[in-house]
Amino acid sequence: MEQHQEILVRVCARDALADGIVGLTLAPVDGGQLPEWTPGAHLDLKLPLKADDGAEVIRQYSLCGDPRDRSCYRIGVLREAAGRGGSAYVHDRLAPGEVIRINAPRNHFPFEPTARTLFIAGGIGITPILPMVRQAAAEGHDWQLIVATRDRSRLAFEADFAALDPARVTFHFHAEKGLLDLDAVLGPLGAETTVYSCGPTGLLDALTQRSEGAPWQLRIERFAASEPVDTAGKGFDVICASSGERLRVGEGQTILEVVRPAGYKIESSCKDGICGTCETRVLRGMPDHRDSVLTAEERAANDYMMICVSRAQGSELELDI
Ligand code: FES
Repeated sequence: MEQHQEILVRVCARDALADGIVGLTLAPVDGGQLPEWTPGAHLDLKLPLKADDGAEVIRQYSLCGDPRDRSCYRIGVLREAAGRGGSAYVHDRLAPGEVIRINAPRNHFPFEPTARTLFIAGGIGITPILPMVRQAAAEGHDWQLIVATRDRSRLAFEADFAALDPARVTFHFHAEKGLLDLDAVLGPLGAETTVYSCGPTGLLDALTQRSEGAPWQLRIERFAASEPVDTAGKGFDVICASSGERLRVGEGQTILEVVRPAGYKIESSCKDGICGTCETRVLRGMPDHRDSVLTAEERAANDYMMICVSRAQGSELELDI
């Protein structure tokens, strides 16, 4: 079974958004309309590279364009100096005219407007936040945006910020002022405020720590795990619905490590439970969720699980693979 809807797109424009950040505009090769998306969504870019385990290299990039424009998708990509080659390929090889496969957008970071919203974007974390800000502004919600980058040369989307109410937007360049003073920013917030943030692990960890017991709510999206996920646990069986085959997942193994070599085509990317690429439908049994993609409600529903990290609570799981 295919996990995701695959689409063939062509790079129709490419522009330098900031120091080390390139913007790509992707349009469908067949000229039709692209699937709908909502602010906070990301797509999977399927790169013609092989990962260490021989699997296809898939990278997630948040959509930063206008959801009403179904003719193209816009993404912004930071060249990751310590990355595994995905962002370097995008920067060095994806020129206008190149054709590439993507998976249709998915949204694990939806924007649900509340009385007040504080958006905090760190670096390239602005990409999922920007469409949320545009939606909040267009719908007349009460919002503020803090954009934190190393310095102004790293600030992407300046033209987009110029179109927003300047009284609601604050830029923080930590090469000039040091790290953002989160205690000063968060201290005055009350129960009416929801903080949406995306950015480096240090920023998101600091926000998560301060949100515990705080009156305000926090919604974040991570690009990297804050610490390795513990995937250990007792063994269990996985029943693959497409064939009826029963496979044993041993103590030191993940479901992904068992089903893929058995011939089931499962896409994956982070293998840390943060990107959602390996999301798989649960048909029977109770997962032991260990990812940081699903919300508490989604976990409780037990409809889907991330098979790169999550396990079974009981002795078996039947999965839609
Ligand atoms: S591969 Fe990223 S969540 Fe499983």
